Amino acid sequence: MPTLNLSQDDARSLFETLEKQRQDNLTRFWPQGSVSPDFDIVCRNRKGNRFSYRYEFVDKTMTVGENNSNPVYKIAGTLTPETMKARGAIGKQGISKQRLIKYQQHSAHYPVSLVIAEYTGAVQENALHMKYPTIIANNSYLTMRELPGESLDTILHNDYATPGKQLTYLQRFQLSIALVEALRDQVSRHGVIHRDIKPANIMVEFLPDGTPRVYIIDYGFSVKAAHLDSFLAGSFGYFAPEILKKCPDLQSTATDIYPMACVLLEVWRMPSNITLNFELNQQKGKLLNLRRSLRRLFSGITGIDPLIQKNIRIILSAMLDTEPKNRPQPDEIIEAFKTVLAYESTEEVDNSSVAESSSSVALAPSPEILKSPSGSFTFFSEPVCSSSTIEYGKPPCPN
Ligand SMILES: Nc1ncnc2c1ncn2[C@@H]1O[C@H](COP(=O)(O)OP(=O)(O)O)[C@@H](O)[C@H]1O
Ligand SMILES: [Mg+2]
Repeated sequence: MPTLNLSQDDARSLFETLEKQRQDNLTRFWPQGSVSPDFDIVCRNRKGNRFSYRYEFVDKTMTVGENNSNPVYKIAGTLTPETMKARGAIGKQGISKQRLIKYQQHSAHYPVSLVIAEYTGAVQENALHMKYPTIIANNSYLTMRELPGESLDTILHNDYATPGKQLTYLQRFQLSIALVEALRDQVSRHGVIHRDIKPANIMVEFLPDGTPRVYIIDYGFSVKAAHLDSFLAGSFGYFAPEILKKCPDLQSTATDIYPMACVLLEVWRMPSNITLNFELNQQKGKLLNLRRSLRRLFSGITGIDPLIQKNIRIILSAMLDTEPKNRPQPDEIIEAFKTVLAYESTEEVDNSSVAESSSSVALAPSPEILKSPSGSFTFFSEPVCSSSTIEYGKPPCPN
């Protein structure tokens, strides 16, 4: 990675060159080689600052993330008019203030309005420190903080493919809770519908004690609940039915619950041939009922009490309701997972993560039969005696 290491004199003369072209309105973007041999340079306007712009130096030697349609690069440093010093990515006390920049090329099918929506959806979430995009003709440049951790896509890929990198049973529970909390706190709470919830758009940092911290990213398809559209927004394999059927009137923050259930299916190891089949059908405009496949969950995870399995299926089944209004709220889902986890910790469970084969996984009955007539989601409490609530696989009441 090239470092931005300019003397004060070099920084000043580079600054003057850029400044002249900016003032003459010639450009606000300098591709690598035109002014700097190592970096692209983007002039970004800043809001609320008397020095209202800065030059950002983009390191294009490698992209951040894998398989993304839009390249995301690290910002190697900045040149600001107030200091006229080129500063690297390390802030005070050596704390990394690494920023990223996402390049997007727009067209009639991928309009510039999407990057504005991306900014509008993400800006309310402090963790990303999203800056207003720089738009030059059909190109946009979006600066944000680099979040710690890895994308959930990578983590789940390793979980399936890399021995020794599997999530523990407890981590799957903690991750399930943290994912829904992140959706609630970072997205839904702001009246935003993300519409592209999927593992590649989720970053997960595991703290030293193993607990996960979750960040939702990529608000490119997001919309405010009050400004709905019938755009086919999102990714195949994760579309909520109301998006696939282009019913804007049915969209709400509940629209993100459905794809979050698809993500949780992967956390709880739905076999990949089922998720792939679901994706292929969505590409053809057909919506398979994933609830029918819930009995195939936990592939390769041993030692989960059948009652716990049943409870997890019930939670996911409720989240996958085709009627958005019947899907549980984030708080209900979180409480349900916490309740199941609390029940689990009173049981003797084999906490080793993944076994060689799935043959020891006991299949619980289809959860649909346990749904309440209203389709609503009820939690079990201690002890479960009421016949009016759904009993989430708790042991029979002693009375
Ligand atoms: N703020 C961020 N911090 C860390 N990694 C990020 C961040 N934003 C994006 N990435 C990485 O770049 C990838 C692509 O970013 P994303 O915004 O999802 O682009 P796209 O629009 O192409 O899907 C993500 O999957 C992630 O690996
Ligand atoms: Mg993305």
